[in-house]
Amino acid sequence: MDSFAFSLLFPQKNMQKIQLLDKEFEPFIAESEIQAAVSRVANQINVDFAGKSPLFLIVLNGAFMFAADMMKQLTITCELSFVKIASYHGAEQKDLQELIGLNEDLTGREVIIVEDIVDSGNTVHRIFEMLKEKNAAKVYVASMFFKPGAYKYQHPIQYTGLNIANDFIVGYGLDYNGVGRNLNAIYVYKP
Ligand code: IMP
Ligand code: MG
Repeated sequence: MDSFAFSLLFPQKNMQKIQLLDKEFEPFIAESEIQAAVSRVANQINVDFAGKSPLFLIVLNGAFMFAADMMKQLTITCELSFVKIASYHGAEQKDLQELIGLNEDLTGREVIIVEDIVDSGNTVHRIFEMLKEKNAAKVYVASMFFKPGAYKYQHPIQYTGLNIANDFIVGYGLDYNGVGRNLNAIYVYKP
């Protein structure tokens, strides 16, 4: 039985609020809807990169789940690598620092940054600059979730799974203070 049929038969089992640390989260996006979006993104990349061999740059920690599900559906020849960026919230601005960097020579390569969510765009912007320094030929972004209302840069986000409002969500790789990444559906914080 798929999860949609399951939710019709047993709504109470699929519609439960969850508690993570000190906060309660409500069910928001079902696993089946997430997986349909993942397949759409993978299919589009298969079409757009047919005959090419891009490098997927997966942004840790959050993008691990989307990257794994999406890349299993790719039929193109490709490579992957990981980056990890830490953010420090100062009074005025958000500073981003590279924790795991890139060693590959990217000269002439097409790179697809894989993100869990693009919010303000600060993270993806920092990685764009890093890739420019390493002479990547063309840089694309594939993000599972996108908050168009929060994004403050001009770079297009070419591949997005689902657009969401400026809410705080957890699950499918996304965390609240480190927990919730393992959830297979998305939950939203409603204060
Ligand atoms: P940005 O740099 O503002 O685009 O934010 C990117 C990072 O912030 C993401 O990779 C997430 O780690 C985190 N983030 C943004 N929005 C959410 C959310 O709704 N839930 C959990 N983490 C989020
Ligand atoms: Mg993240």
